[in-house]
Amino acid sequence: MSSKKDSHKTLRKPAPKHIAIIMDGNGRWAKARHLPRSSGHQKGVQTVRKIVKYSAILGIKVLTLFAFSSENMKRSNEEVSLLFKLFLSVLKTETRKLKENNIKLKIIGDLSVFTPEIISLAEEAESSLEENTGLTLVIAANYGGQWDITESAKKIAQNVANGSIDPEKINTALFNKYTSLSTLPKVDLLIRTSGEVRLSNFLLWDIAYSEFYFCNTLWPDFNEKALDDAIEDFHLRERRYGQRKGNI
Ligand code: IPE
Ligand code: IPE
Ligand code: MG
Repeated sequence: MSSKKDSHKTLRKPAPKHIAIIMDGNGRWAKARHLPRSSGHQKGVQTVRKIVKYSAILGIKVLTLFAFSSENMKRSNEEVSLLFKLFLSVLKTETRKLKENNIKLKIIGDLSVFTPEIISLAEEAESSLEENTGLTLVIAANYGGQWDITESAKKIAQNVANGSIDPEKINTALFNKYTSLSTLPKVDLLIRTSGEVRLSNFLLWDIAYSEFYFCNTLWPDFNEKALDDAIEDFHLRERRYGQRKGNI
């Protein structure tokens, strides 16, 4: 894939394998322009397109995007229905582009709240992109990190009850297989835009040893250069995983 944005490719070290992003600040972006919140969300979708494309160019293996949280369902009916509409239109229009760019899709979260149309489009999109071998794009929709862990525990408990799992065999590797991201590489870099410094119930299990990067940029203003900055910062980190280098 060629891109006019190749000029941003100043990164010499290999890109992190898995980047997760809490895409925050759409509402504030709109407010600053005296626009309705919907404009912020629409502009946010444009940023998603840009960042997905650029992540594929950089050779990132997995990009996980927090599209909306389980808690976001408590926003006004108007905003929730707009977010659903945007999700639907993105599924309708973007799948072909993902296919052309060799991108796989995985949607995680409690999808039971969505309309049958959204659910079947999501399933069709995932299966039509299954053979792709490039970037895996994970969209977290009506997702909560606590929900994810609870669902995993529930499935394990069911398998213990039906005798297919010996409780003595439950360990982190087994538990991991039941989580939404399952065997995908663990998150190397977690980015949150808009200046908020919290997780807001995003991935919990998968970020045990992630590096965190918080920036003030509002999601609609986030771009290729901002992602380069985050990755450059990531490269300065020393990942020790609880161990000491050279026994000092
Ligand atoms: C993030 O932007 C998108 C979603 C949560 C769906 P917000 O809508 O949270 O924007 P702010 O935080 O109010 O600026
Ligand atoms: C987290 O942002 C969810 C997404 C970005 C999708 P919120 O804006 O919902 O989080 P809080 O309310 O600031 O914690
Ligand atoms: Mg927010």
